[in-house]
Amino acid sequence: MTELTTQRLLIRQWKADDYEPFAAMNADPAVMEHFPALLSRVDSDRTIDRLRSSIDQRGFGFWAVEIRETGRFIGFTGLSVPSLDAPFRPGVEIGWRLAKEAWGNGYATEAARASLAYAFGPAGLDDVMSFTTTTNRPSQRVMERIGMTHDEADDFDDPRLPSGHPLQRHVLYRITRAQWQA
Ligand SMILES: CC(C)(COP(=O)(O)OP(=O)(O)OC[C@H]1O[C@@H](n2cnc3c(N)ncnc32)[C@H](O)[C@@H]1OP(=O)(O)O)[C@@H](O)C(=O)NCCC(=O)NCCS
Repeated sequence: MTELTTQRLLIRQWKADDYEPFAAMNADPAVMEHFPALLSRVDSDRTIDRLRSSIDQRGFGFWAVEIRETGRFIGFTGLSVPSLDAPFRPGVEIGWRLAKEAWGNGYATEAARASLAYAFGPAGLDDVMSFTTTTNRPSQRVMERIGMTHDEADDFDDPRLPSGHPLQRHVLYRITRAQWQA
């Protein structure tokens, strides 16, 4: 089973103890500000089940992230094959969601760098993308810190949201293996 270790973080398969803190972060309006809705406990639990089996199948996915020193679960980071019916499919995305208490420490960027190294190393991918709402600057800053670039021509509307919804417009960032190596 894949586990990634960074200076401060363990990036790993999900475990039983993660369900409760994951549900708490998915019910936090600050964490979910750029998503259409909070997640109920049932939906949050189902999300972990889905992420676990995806990691089992592909060897990568949105991994659980914990702080090595304390063992505290702080959220997820990793690679995923998006199900969204958007213009850029197929491909692999990199993404992250951390509990609010963990923000402002560089943890998302640290875990994202390890995930990119996995993408361009063991997973053998040639490019990775990331997307978020135009409003989500904290997430875009992570994309920029890990060397991803943005071309406005790639931006798109989330097809699941009604026209005019404030979270409908999305930015798409990309990075290729060559850019990552440079
Ligand atoms: C997106 C998200 C993960 C970004 O978290 P974050 O804490 O801002 O990002 P990082 O972990 O990379 O931390 C960077 C910040 O930590 C600061 N920092 C403090 N100590 C640091 C250290 N030792 N190393 C690096 N950065 C450090 C940086 O200066 C930076 O702050 P700034 O953005 O104000 O300049 C977080 O906002 C989140 O979970 N949001 C909700 C979920 C979400 O929207 N996910 C994305 C959906 S697409």
